Amino acid sequence: MLPHALRGAAGAAALLLGLGMAAHPAAAQMAAEPSIAEQLVNGLEGVFGQHAGRRRSGTRGFCATGEWMATGAAAPMTTASTLQPGARAAVVARFSLGGGNPNAPENAPGVRGLSFSAELPGGDTQEFVLINTPVFTARTPESFVNFLRVRAPDPQTRQMNSAAVAAANAANPDWAPQMAYVRENAPPRSYATSAYFGINSFVLVNRAGQRQHVRWTFEPVAGRHGLTPEERQARGPAFLEAELRERLAAGPAEWRVLLQFPEAGDPLDDAVTAWPDSRRTLEVARLRITALAGPEACDARLFNPVLLPDGIEPSADPILNARAEAYAVSLSRRLQ
Ligand code: HEM
Repeated sequence: MLPHALRGAAGAAALLLGLGMAAHPAAAQMAAEPSIAEQLVNGLEGVFGQHAGRRRSGTRGFCATGEWMATGAAAPMTTASTLQPGARAAVVARFSLGGGNPNAPENAPGVRGLSFSAELPGGDTQEFVLINTPVFTARTPESFVNFLRVRAPDPQTRQMNSAAVAAANAANPDWAPQMAYVRENAPPRSYATSAYFGINSFVLVNRAGQRQHVRWTFEPVAGRHGLTPEERQARGPAFLEAELRERLAAGPAEWRVLLQFPEAGDPLDDAVTAWPDSRRTLEVARLRITALAGPEACDARLFNPVLLPDGIEPSADPILNARAEAYAVSLSRRLQ
């Protein structure tokens, strides 16, 4: 049995950890040319540095536990055990700030993340890796590598070349939607008052083999609330963990788990284009976070967005398909 951290990403992790590669004829060539996953993680390290033992993105964060309860409303569309009526799963979660800065200020604009595994009593597991913007930074892994490379600070001056960044922004319109969303939406007052989005689409498959593209939205029962400028000042750069601990002492934090359905013509594999808010949604589960947990609960593991039960498949979105391997590269580097 593999350690939990490697389940799901087993193939990629085994490859990246060098298991069974010695006799492979392509090994020498692969060593010379970094894979796209390695380029992506190198890009993150170029911007944020290497922090021993820490994730290369979503670096600042903490663990929590809770429960997943399916409504059963998705059962006609999928055989997934996690979505059948009455399905209840144990949740291990991690809240985080986007990017690789271990001291990223929590009162500043930016991306917030929620990852979790939902494990049914029989062992069937689904993992979610979500952020609080409905679109991602770039449309393709290659474009994301370019986004990161141009932001790497000059080794001498330790400054980012802002003229080069402005020129690259203008030349790469796929980078604009997420930057605009972050600019226009205040940072959340609490991890519990933020919506979280799966961004990449997935494919539900039912008993008859019918296939349906969907996207995930997690809507906070406490409502979406951002910090006012005065609250940003008063809260300071480190408050999210204490805020959540205090909140959970009074009762669980909860999200309505929604599937969003595309209409004809909506792009199915484009992480920088959200589907309109007017698209139909269906509440298929509730996520309830009940307690914070120590670092042993989630620090040494990864969450893998393509660890899915039968009845849910990854879409062809190139961003989704780059993620599992990039996360495995990050894991192997932080476990070294
Ligand atoms: C090609 C695109 C992407 C790359 C290269 C990338 C890279 C990474 C890496 C290297 C990590 C650290 C993994 C670890 O060590 O466990 C990470 C974590 C994370 N990523 Fe991504 N990511 C991408 C896209 C996305 C998208 C689309 C989302 C959300 C929909 C997302 C949400 C997160 C979150 C929430 C974490 C923190 C995970 C945790 O708490 O364990 N990422 N990402």
